[in-house]
Amino acid sequence: MVRETEMGSATGPDARIDGLGELDALEAAGRAAFAAAADAAAVEAARVEYLGQKHGKLRAAQERLKQLPAEARRVYGQRFNAVREALEAAHRAARERLERPARAEAGVDVTLPGRRPRLGHLHPLTQTANELIDVFGRFGFSVARGPEVEDVFHNFEALNIPPAHPARDPLDNFYLPGGRMLRSQTSTVQIRVMESQPPPVRVIAIGRVYRPDAVDATHSFMFHQIEGLMVDRGVTMADLKTVLRLFAESYLGRDVKIRFRPSFFPFTEPSVEVDMQWHGGERWVEMGGAGMVDPNVFRAVGYDPEEVTGFAFGLGIERLCMRRHGIDDIRLLYQNDARFLAQF
Ligand code: DAH
Repeated sequence: MVRETEMGSATGPDARIDGLGELDALEAAGRAAFAAAADAAAVEAARVEYLGQKHGKLRAAQERLKQLPAEARRVYGQRFNAVREALEAAHRAARERLERPARAEAGVDVTLPGRRPRLGHLHPLTQTANELIDVFGRFGFSVARGPEVEDVFHNFEALNIPPAHPARDPLDNFYLPGGRMLRSQTSTVQIRVMESQPPPVRVIAIGRVYRPDAVDATHSFMFHQIEGLMVDRGVTMADLKTVLRLFAESYLGRDVKIRFRPSFFPFTEPSVEVDMQWHGGERWVEMGGAGMVDPNVFRAVGYDPEEVTGFAFGLGIERLCMRRHGIDDIRLLYQNDARFLAQF
């Protein structure tokens, strides 16, 4: 206000420079106000303060213009017009700046590239199971299923595992009331299949099995097995070895070697442990068990052991999957961490 008085009463070049200095300051302050406005209300407040028709600062400066002598008015007027245009442009710019993100949020900008939803995929264990079904399908094996809640007959008795056998220990099994239990092996499905159909048989069964093992990098209280069973006239151990070798080559690669070690299972005679070695490595890794179906098992399901022979095998799915993908901790397969799963 002090300056206005000075300007209004002054004559000569100095007065003119003072007035122009105020216009410069007005332009700078107005631009800053529009630039700093963070929302529509702030833009509107800046508009009223600087561009307001009645009490705006630009309006006040315009009033001053009228009081100037003719020569000063011409120079001041030119500068005034430039400042008004600059502030109107700053006002437009502030409004556009605030509108732009709002439009994008509303999804109105049809020129933006579309948002691609991230696609999920099958769990590595499911992928492994599907590949096994595929490989054995090519050898003529179909898929059979059995319940995870089993009875003791299918889990032990029919498999020639006598009542006093250590595999039946309550510490090694999840028993349920009523003579039932969570199956400890997929060999149960052998029994269910043979009960339901006459020979020949060529099936695999894939599924969960349960054992109260302490969890560590290689053990879990729940894991998956693949069971195979082939029964017909004249099936031999050579057929077993051929099928397992062809399977290992298909799933793990051409350079996989397979070896049988003598072993014992109540439901096979003879029994073997199946080891695999690959990529020229030195170590043999145990993948599961196998053997020729014990005559007692055939008798339990009503097959005639003088008529047919058969082989059976059981392999750990986790082991196969971990081998194939270089996974070193079984727990990774159950934690469902998307950063892990996305790699397969
Ligand atoms: N059931 C056995 C296990 O859980 C694996 C097994 C061994 C399955 C020999 C078989 C077999 O069919 O013939 O360790």
